[in-house]
Amino acid sequence: MLYTLKNGTSVTIRKPTTKDAQAIVSIISTADTENLFLARNPGEFRTTVEREEAVIEGVLADEDSTWFVAEYEGRLVGQCSVGLVRRSQRYRHRAEVAFVILKDYQGLGIGGKMMEECIKWCREKEVTQIELDVVTANQKALSMYRGFGFEVTGTLPNALRYTDGTYADEYKMVKRL
Ligand SMILES: CC(C)(COP(=O)(O)OP(=O)(O)OC[C@H]1O[C@@H](n2cnc3c(N)ncnc32)[C@H](O)[C@@H]1OP(=O)(O)O)[C@@H](O)C(=O)NCCC(=O)NCCS
Repeated sequence: MLYTLKNGTSVTIRKPTTKDAQAIVSIISTADTENLFLARNPGEFRTTVEREEAVIEGVLADEDSTWFVAEYEGRLVGQCSVGLVRRSQRYRHRAEVAFVILKDYQGLGIGGKMMEECIKWCREKEVTQIELDVVTANQKALSMYRGFGFEVTGTLPNALRYTDGTYADEYKMVKRL
């Protein structure tokens, strides 16, 4: 889907294809060097394009989860995932989301458009509750999530441990649909 951003430029939010494998690997490994809010240390995300292609094929075949990528000015600059937290009946009203946008492209509204696509997917799947975990110091992400109506429902202390021995807490956030 093509969206116009607040600065008048446009972004396409779409499902990935296997041709995007290299770009997705690059986004994830670059983002790991750009901030302290993601799951891995820099250099920890190691895969091959072939393996990533297989992962994308798996995602595209899965009814219970999906990915979206953001294509901006001819290149992929972001990726997100949305999927049921578990597949059994008692959990099928709950989905979780995760987002990453390369630093140079943050703040343009691209994350917001990805969130809109995720919410659309959730509504189609009759999900009634969207959940995420976010480092408590991640102001940019918190601002976006609050803007979409997510509320903090709890805090997990020491959720992440960094190489220097310090820790970060995470909020659990929930948005009801
Ligand atoms: C967090 C992240 C995904 C946000 O994406 P982004 O493209 O930078 O964010 P956007 O420009 O779409 O949104 C930022 C602002 O628009 C607001 N916004 C965007 N769409 C909105 C909407 N539809 N409704 C309400 N508010 C909206 C957000 O609240 C936020 O407000 P602010 O101006 O007060 O900061 C991105 O910065 C990122 O990838 N960061 C690094 C990795 C990361 O932290 N991932 C999240 C881990 S939990």
